[in-house]
This record gives sequence, C-alpha cells and structure tokens, in this order.
Amino acid sequence: MDNLSGQIEISFADPDPIRPCAPGDFKAIYEIINDAAKAYRGIIPKDRWKEPHMPREELKGEIEAGVAFWGYQEKNELLGVMGLQPVHDVTLIRHSYVRTACRNQGIGGRLLSFLKAKTDRPLLVGTWAAAAWAIRFYETYGFRQVSPKEKNRLLGRYWFIPNRQVETSVVLADPKWFKVFARGEREFNLGEKD
Ligand SMILES: CC(C)(COP(=O)(O)OP(=O)(O)OC[C@H]1O[C@@H](n2cnc3c(N)ncnc32)[C@H](O)[C@@H]1OP(=O)(O)O)[C@@H](O)C(=O)NCCC(=O)NCCS
Repeated sequence: MDNLSGQIEISFADPDPIRPCAPGDFKAIYEIINDAAKAYRGIIPKDRWKEPHMPREELKGEIEAGVAFWGYQEKNELLGVMGLQPVHDVTLIRHSYVRTACRNQGIGGRLLSFLKAKTDRPLLVGTWAAAAWAIRFYETYGFRQVSPKEKNRLLGRYWFIPNRQVETSVVLADPKWFKVFARGEREFNLGEKD
C-alpha cells in the first residue's frame, strides 16, 4: 500500500519471497536497476553518471558473464534484485538494487542474508566510495572495507571495470575473505577503528 511519502509499504505476506530470476525477468531486472540507480545522481562522479545507469546490452553482458540474479517478489512483482558471480576463488555480490519506492524496509537485507547463505566461498562486494548508504548497508551484514591498495588489486583481479571506476570505488569483504586471504587486511580494518 502507498503511504504519504510515496513509499510502498511491504506487507511481508509471502513467507518465501526470494527466488532465482529467470530469462522472463530481464525487463523487471532492467527496470529495478535503473530506477534504484537514480540514488547515485549527484553522488557519484559526474563523469561516471549515465542514464540509463545500466543499458540493456550491459545487463545482458553481465548475465552472460555469470551474474546469477535473485529477486525479492511480492504479489507477483519483483521489488528488488541482487546477483552472485563466482570469479576464480571468491564469489562477488553484484548489482544490489531495490525499487526506490520500496527501500529501507528490509528487502535488501533479506536478499543479502539469503545470498550469503548460498555460498561457502569468501564474498566480496564493490560499490561507489561516495555511496555511504551502500557501504553502511554492507557493514551491517558483516562486510568490512579493505585497504585502498588491496581494493585496487581486487578490482583488477575480479572485476572488469575502467580505471576511473577503480579510483572511485571501494571493496568490502566478508569475515571469511579476511580469514582466508588477508591477515594484514584484518589488521588494517581493526587499526582504522582505533
Ligand atoms: C542498497 C540497497 C540495495 C539496500 O536495500 P534496502 O531494501 O533499502 O535495504 P534494507 O531496508 O534492508 O536496509 C537499508 C536500511 O533500512 C533499514 N531498515 C530495514 N528494515 C527497515 C524497516 N522495516 N523500516 C525502516 N527501516 C528499515 C536498515 O536498518 C538499513 O538502515 P541502515 O543502512 O541505516 O542500517 C537499496 O537501498 C538500493 O537499491 N540503493 C540504491 C542502489 C545502491 O546503492 N545499490 C548498492 C550498489 S552496490
């Protein structure tokens, strides 16, 4: 139901709202990503802003490159999506997006918790350095930022993004990644908090 702020209140009536996306969901995934990505306008560097944020061809390429999307569905409508992409020895969380009208009601959190439980591999996620809300969101679920030097290395090894995007991004890792791959990195994170 719509409330006065334009937000759609989620009823959480469906006990099992998360499902893998199918080819027929392409249009909905495209719409959700480009609606939710409006949050970046005026936040991410101007030279990285484009509309739509993710053109159809790019989304198609991401799926072909192995991003498996999961969707949060309410009354037969997808409200949020999030992807998993195994790359080398880790799994990446890719493209976390919840429709603007449905944000801050726990959909992203439920998707992230669900996807975390889907893999035993260390998890990494990248986002814009300026997207403070996204960084806080991942930190709430146990992810911690890696050092700038390690971020550059990880973006080069696991992502395929232009150099300018590397400069303006951060990488967060889950506790398993810190345990398996990065003693020094764990110290970096603890050091930062002191
Ligand atoms: C980031 C994003 C996917 C999170 O999805 P979401 O559904 O809004 O996430 P949640 O509702 O689970 O959590 C977000 C906040 O809402 C709060 N929240 C959760 N349930 C809530 C509820 N029932 N009522 C009010 N607030 C709630 C959470 O505590 C959290 O707050 P915090 O970040 O201050 O701790 C979504 O905001 C989005 O699409 N943003 C734009 C695109 C983006 O930044 N994507 C990330 C790219 S990597």
